[in-house]
Amino acid sequence: MAWLEIKNLQAFYHGICVLHDICLQMDKGDLISVIGSNGAGKTTLLRSISRLISAKGRMLFDGEDLMHLKPQAVIKKGIIHCPEGRLLFPNMTVYQNLMMGAFLRKDLKGIESDLERVFEFLPVLSERRSQLAGTLSGGEQQMLAIGRSIMGRPRLLTLDEPSFGLAPLVVDVIFEVIQKLNNQGLSILMVEQNAALALEFSSFAYVLEEGKIINQGNSDELVEDPSVAKAYLGMA
Ligand SMILES: Nc1ncnc2c1ncn2[C@@H]1O[C@H](COP(=O)(O)OP(=O)(O)O)[C@@H](O)[C@H]1O
Ligand SMILES: [Mg+2]
Repeated sequence: MAWLEIKNLQAFYHGICVLHDICLQMDKGDLISVIGSNGAGKTTLLRSISRLISAKGRMLFDGEDLMHLKPQAVIKKGIIHCPEGRLLFPNMTVYQNLMMGAFLRKDLKGIESDLERVFEFLPVLSERRSQLAGTLSGGEQQMLAIGRSIMGRPRLLTLDEPSFGLAPLVVDVIFEVIQKLNNQGLSILMVEQNAALALEFSSFAYVLEEGKIINQGNSDELVEDPSVAKAYLGMA
């Protein structure tokens, strides 16, 4: 059995099914991506894993059933969700936002060492630790959202559209951070509209369309797939 095993997952809004029999697997240490256009169901997938919306099917993480867990229990299992649109607390400082990521933890020493690690990893957050989050640039806000997730001590980080709304140069910086985190052993499941980037940085990818997985494979092979290239990479 895979480390994260999702089988025949269905998710609903007001009784309407928007994810249809999703099957997805990943192993510890993987960086995998789910690509899909606006409305494909990417956010719904991550929200289902975090148990934030009603879903049916099977989801196992490290052998444990996620379907019966409340959102807080999912966080305690180490699945940390970096949400779409960052969802920072704009009127709180960088430091306060980071500490919000540790709100379920009681290991003060561990929190302190993780904070040091975040500042080492994302020095811009250290420089701006007293600045209000709402006054950061878009790229800095994304870094803060990732830093806050790290403060939850993730075993699995789920990232919702880290590139959203950012200039290309800034996106490159963010993806280098994501790659570095993965190189250091963090398992990452990312959903992205920016298929070119997601395929470049992930090892394996799923293609989500209208709530269904329509294709999957090693990212370097999917890049070569004519249907993927045409629909998602802007190639004729
Ligand atoms: N809160 C909601 N209530 C009702 N329908 C929703 C809600 N959120 C998303 N949807 C619908 O579910 C589908 C998938 O949306 P979403 O997961 O946000 O897609 P993506 O993240 O890929 O853009 C879309 O058809 C969207 O309109
Ligand atoms: Mg979304």
